[in-house]
Amino acid sequence: DLFPGQDEGMVRGEPGGFVFTREYGRRANEIYQFQPREDDVWVCTFSKSGTTWTQELVWLIANGCDTETAKKTPLHVRSPYLEGDFLQSPERMPQEIRDCWSLESMAKRPSPRIIKSHLPFYLLPPKLLDTCKVVYVARNPKDVIVSNYHHFKLFKFHDYKGTLEQFAEYSMDGLIYYSPYFPHVLEAWKQRHHPNVLFLFFEEMKQNLRAVVERVAAHLNQTVTEEQMVRVLDHLSFKRLAEGEATETAKAKEMGVINEGAGTFFRKGKAGDWKNHYSPELNERIDKWMEDNLAGSDLKFVMEL
Ligand code: A3P
Repeated sequence: DLFPGQDEGMVRGEPGGFVFTREYGRRANEIYQFQPREDDVWVCTFSKSGTTWTQELVWLIANGCDTETAKKTPLHVRSPYLEGDFLQSPERMPQEIRDCWSLESMAKRPSPRIIKSHLPFYLLPPKLLDTCKVVYVARNPKDVIVSNYHHFKLFKFHDYKGTLEQFAEYSMDGLIYYSPYFPHVLEAWKQRHHPNVLFLFFEEMKQNLRAVVERVAAHLNQTVTEEQMVRVLDHLSFKRLAEGEATETAKAKEMGVINEGAGTFFRKGKAGDWKNHYSPELNERIDKWMEDNLAGSDLKFVMEL
């Protein structure tokens, strides 16, 4: 009952396995059988790892750096959320959202489709990586937990009521949607040399966004002129995206999906904000969790900038 918004319950694939909504449990196969197209680009992440930022970036590169249209059209319309229609049973989802996110509407969308998903690779259509370009973004888990905690308080379909400490424990125990975290990231990390996969870190976007824009453009076989680059970097700045997102948050409040007074979707956009949130004891437990899960892997996170 720390998650009163999740009153339909959750499902877990197997002990220690993937956790998501009951609606997804009923219809997971529809996603598995969804047909990717050659000219799709999929943005895949564990939630709160920089998904929105990367969707904006990928959308611009795939659409001739059209910052005007990007400003006028909400991101959820330009770039649908693959399993967004599975967050609750259909009768509880606002129709406006279903119109953008149902699998039927996605199947009819014109190319190029920029599709967002938080599902781990093994639950996505099996031919995905061999069909189209995929951009995977990872963020250090300490910041992901803090960002996710605020997200779970913000959205009514979670309505999280507990403390950050409890949330961190739930996250480490793999008890929140899209968990467990490490298998998600490590599965993508293993695929990072696949020619269709571009593996990015939130922290490198913070450090040198221009270089990341160039890498994304190269991955999508596009070129970006200096004039376009300047506009793209301006559009992708935290300040600009947060302005647009504030309008979206206001609309989401009107639609009744967001809790009043729980903040906005864009919070701080920092690398290392976790330092302001964890007690030394909790931080030690998270360190141990990271160490155990990264043993034997060459994946390394930048924890602060
Ligand atoms: P914080 O909650 O730490 O502020 P997602 O889109 O995957 O849900 O990730 C959301 C996180 O990305 C939020 O983190 C948000 O502030 C951050 N973010 C989004 N756009 C950003 C930008 N342009 N620069 C820095 N951080 C950004």
